[in-house]
Amino acid sequence: MEERIKSVQSIMKKLQKKGFEPRVANMKTQISDVAGIRVITNYIDDIYLIEKLLVNQSDVTLLKRKDYVKDPKPSGYRSVHLVASVPVFQASGVQDVKVEIQIRTIGMDMWASLEHKLRYKTDIDEKLVDQYGADLHCYSDELAEIEAKMQTIYQKLNDDSEIKQP
Ligand code: GTP
Ligand code: MG
Repeated sequence: MEERIKSVQSIMKKLQKKGFEPRVANMKTQISDVAGIRVITNYIDDIYLIEKLLVNQSDVTLLKRKDYVKDPKPSGYRSVHLVASVPVFQASGVQDVKVEIQIRTIGMDMWASLEHKLRYKTDIDEKLVDQYGADLHCYSDELAEIEAKMQTIYQKLNDDSEIKQP
């Protein structure tokens, strides 16, 4: 699990980009990823298990859900994105705070960080960016296949050990 709080600088930048004044009130209504959590799992099924456990917590309210595992982004990006509201207790009282949660496998995480690196690299040829982007799109599909196959082996091994246990 990784967590990060968005810097004041990038909150300002995001508000400006969206055409809003840099005010705390606007931050609360316009930006859902001031607090971000990333959960990294071994297998695809674990993503949905983590999601279920999270959403079933009585103090967590699900505001938005996007399943880019089932429907990958055009880039090939895969992850489950949730925006949830959680109560934060402070001296001044309870405040509901939005958290953006990304849940993905190790493979999806490795893919996303490489693809992110490619997107933000400015000193390489555009043709190469397109080529690598297309390659990464293929690898995303291949990763999805491999992850599904490895999950099957994992499940079979688990089923076997359940049968053998006295
Ligand atoms: P929207 O409702 O369209 O805003 O969807 P969203 O909030 O679920 O996803 P958004 O496109 O806003 O992306 C949120 C975060 O997901 C980004 O800051 C990235 O960390 C990650 N992400 C989304 N798309 C991609 C992608 O194509 N490549 C990589 N590497 N990361 C991505
Ligand atoms: Mg977004």
